Amino acid sequence: MKILVTGGTGFIGSHTVVELQKQKFEVLIADNLSNSSIDVLDNIAGITGVLPDFEKVDLSEREATAGLFNRHPDIKAIIHFAASKSVGESVDFPLKYYRNNLNSLINILEEMTKHEIHDIVFSSSCTVYGQADELPVRETTPIKPAWSPYGNTKQICEEIIRDNGRVSKIQASMLRYFNPIGAHESALIGELPLGVPNNLIPYITQTAIGIRDYLRVWGDDYNTPDGTAIRDYIHVVDLAEAHIAAINRLLDGKNEVPVEVFNLGTGKGYSVLEVIHSFEKMSGVKLKYKIQNRRPGDIEKVWADTTRANKVLGWVAKRGLDDMTLSAWNWEKHLAELKNKGK
Ligand code: UFG
Repeated sequence: MKILVTGGTGFIGSHTVVELQKQKFEVLIADNLSNSSIDVLDNIAGITGVLPDFEKVDLSEREATAGLFNRHPDIKAIIHFAASKSVGESVDFPLKYYRNNLNSLINILEEMTKHEIHDIVFSSSCTVYGQADELPVRETTPIKPAWSPYGNTKQICEEIIRDNGRVSKIQASMLRYFNPIGAHESALIGELPLGVPNNLIPYITQTAIGIRDYLRVWGDDYNTPDGTAIRDYIHVVDLAEAHIAAINRLLDGKNEVPVEVFNLGTGKGYSVLEVIHSFEKMSGVKLKYKIQNRRPGDIEKVWADTTRANKVLGWVAKRGLDDMTLSAWNWEKHLAELKNKGK
């Protein structure tokens, strides 16, 4: 059974391809390589023994997307990751975000109808909740106005999928990710940030390996036990496994309504300092960091109620914070080895 994975050479995409292949799905990756490397294909094959089929396609282009679907009439379902995802960049270049994230979804949905493909899993984000009034956040927690164009594209994409679901046979699973971190235990795939990372974990591991001088901890005056902000970090392999559960549910026709939503987190929140302490314990490296003012746009705290995903998808996040920080560190060390070898 062939699954189209858009953005399959990216961070979450590549880990999901590995899990799909382990479940004997045939995978076709479509990616424009704007934020990922073609080498990821070989690294996936290094883990699973199977090189995924690949097409370099910009899915925001209508004709290119049509061509992809015409060349692969045997696509049975889609997992759609391909999107621009930097909050800060989206503030500076909003049109890039609207063009890329909205057009690609619309093009894919149109091709799905044309080719009678009915099942899609969509990458959404807990960013849709903003700073929720109640914690943990449930799928029914009200959506807050988006704080960034990036967040807005996720909200609009969810609405597009819902509206289209009412008038087509397309059924969808919209997965709201919390904070995905960590890497595959093989250390062959992981997160590859371009330039200076914005996210906490790549900044920590790059500081520890000596690429950055020190980590800036954005604020210690939040209303949390140690004053630093709290997030629900989830191991990327747990997240990948949730996609298998979601796609199987759609393919088996077990979904109760055409469009379902699931929170994907661990249900536990950790502060920035707790993440640093876990990293130091697992790596044995003392991390240099300085407390700074709050980062504009950051929320204070968020973590998921994962009851629905646990019960309905029969999925639960198994890996803890220490697994996440250790695997991220092993991945950073692997990258350093490659660099030393001049690769
Ligand atoms: N942080 C630091 N220093 C850094 C980087 C991050 O202290 O150098 C802190 C942040 O202030 C925040 C926490 O670490 O408290 C996590 O920050 P990230 O940038 O890793 O993640 P965010 O929660 O800000 O953003 C993530 C994704 C977004 C998504 C959002 C949803 O990167 O794509 O979750 O809430 F929109």
